[in-house]
Amino acid sequence: MCGIIGYTGYSQARGILLKGLKTLEYRGYDSAGIAVYHPDFNETLVTKCEGRVEKLMDKCSDVRGTAGIGHTRWATHGGVCDANSHPHKFGNVTLVHNGIIENYAAITNQLGITKKLKSQTDSEVVAALIDTYYHGDPKEAIIRAVKELSGTFGLAIMFDDIPNQLFAVRNVSPIICCQNDDGAYIASDIMAIGEYSENYFVLPELTIAHITKESIDVTDFKGNPVEPKMLTLDWDIKNSGKKGYPFYMEKEIMEQPEVITKTIESRIKDGKPDFSGEQVDDSIFTECDNITVIACGTAMHAGLIGKHIIEKICGVPVTVNMASEYMYNEPIINERTLVICVSQSGETIDTLEALKYARKRGARSLSIVNVKGSTIARESENVIYTNAGPEIAVASTKAYTTQVAVFYLICAKMAYLRGKLDEAQTADFMEELAKIPAAVQNVLDRRDEVHHLSNGLLTAEHTFMIGRGLDYPTLLEASLKLKEISYIHSEAFASGELKHGTIALITDQTPVIALLTQDFLMSKQVSNIREVQSRGANVLTFIKESLVSDHVHTSFTLPALQDDFMAIPAIIAMQLLAYYVSSDKGLDVDKPRNLAKVVTVE
Ligand code: M6R
Repeated sequence: MCGIIGYTGYSQARGILLKGLKTLEYRGYDSAGIAVYHPDFNETLVTKCEGRVEKLMDKCSDVRGTAGIGHTRWATHGGVCDANSHPHKFGNVTLVHNGIIENYAAITNQLGITKKLKSQTDSEVVAALIDTYYHGDPKEAIIRAVKELSGTFGLAIMFDDIPNQLFAVRNVSPIICCQNDDGAYIASDIMAIGEYSENYFVLPELTIAHITKESIDVTDFKGNPVEPKMLTLDWDIKNSGKKGYPFYMEKEIMEQPEVITKTIESRIKDGKPDFSGEQVDDSIFTECDNITVIACGTAMHAGLIGKHIIEKICGVPVTVNMASEYMYNEPIINERTLVICVSQSGETIDTLEALKYARKRGARSLSIVNVKGSTIARESENVIYTNAGPEIAVASTKAYTTQVAVFYLICAKMAYLRGKLDEAQTADFMEELAKIPAAVQNVLDRRDEVHHLSNGLLTAEHTFMIGRGLDYPTLLEASLKLKEISYIHSEAFASGELKHGTIALITDQTPVIALLTQDFLMSKQVSNIREVQSRGANVLTFIKESLVSDHVHTSFTLPALQDDFMAIPAIIAMQLLAYYVSSDKGLDVDKPRNLAKVVTVE
């Protein structure tokens, strides 16, 4: 989950490392640190501290040198404190690590270094292991050491006696490399170094990068040169700041009409969905008997929307699996199973491992991913990229709605190819899909109304969200949004299920949010609202315009689309609700406590 960065070149490293760490901070913000080779002292000097990069900056004013590495941490092994912050130095070796080393305790015993360690981290042990094997040949030492590691790692390594050169190696955890006339750069994520070059590559797993001012040479563990595949950055990194918004989350919410349009438009040809741009073969949609969606958190909620529409329109059974549980539940998979992985980052380890597991058992695979060239994208047989652009706020918004948009496209494609929708019906479906951005804009234009409603949640400790049919998965996502950024306990329920136990928790202190967008479920949902109102709950109702009636009070009117397309306009209102509660509580909306944007630990 951590972010790592490295630079060697002709400029001072400090500014480049700190700027990169600021960008990487969304991957973890428990502590930060840099190590820079100081020519006067002939060694790599470490500056690090618990807390955010901002705090580190204050401690770094004296740092000099043109080569260094940096790290921003999401704590796994060892608490949040200065000593456990990276970089770690042991003997001649200084390193930063992203990942988890599972056998670090055994290695500690094997080396007999318990008393020498300064931290409780698994990462310091790796520094010690490389140092132990280092007798003048850095690559040999690194290879020997990493062969003994079990777990995941992205490592950037410096040796005191090899000035101004870096080494990098990885297993699972990503490392991106690029260079320009001013030097060479590595990072966990292209966002941190994309401003230096639009051409970059992802370091292949189990290869070593030797990074100097002028070159990045990659070799395999036998010493053979490796030519990594070059990628071109198509995100406008220079334009990726907050653009005047107080938080990235607000900016990203507001970008949704544009990015949903981008995701859909390029994939419509002659009124039909078209994946020829990404070379996704039609057979993937026709030669499967069932679909297994694998994802985590918000991405999994996108899968639940996909399940709803694909089962309804295509008649193909879809199971949606939490990636972290998938392979432990003896899933039924065969070559007629289509696995769809959904991931913004493309690096979520649970999703990645589940994908590998399913592919090994013969499943075909398609991934819906936002970050180009990410590990899940590369491990999948087929990829459809969401065109959401960089999503920085930990709480996912535009990545979610573009994932759902891709599910609509997949659904239409599958339905057409299987004869479930004819030409005219497919055109109607696509026409309704094309109306989504305007509906989203409509909700955004009335965000002040949502802001006003959010006042009702500011002092709540618990809330419930109730809905039926497609509204239920939408509320699962709405509930997650509210929980993660406002710290209000929230639970989403299929409205009819409440009375089987949970309704016991409803009091006049538990605001309830009710969503009503599905025509045929309206009367039942109104009854469920009455049930909670009778127990004293204050209910905020978000109702599709065409369903507004005298039978139930409307708190917020959602623009009307056909039922199956309401998932996106509805979640926009919920994202805004969560956002306003969090910002009005004075919380750090973009970096909620205990979380990180990219989850690379199981
Ligand atoms: O990068 P991914 O989409 O694979 O991440 C999966 C989840 O960690 C992520 O969706 C998480 O639930 C959201 N950031 C919550 O807003």
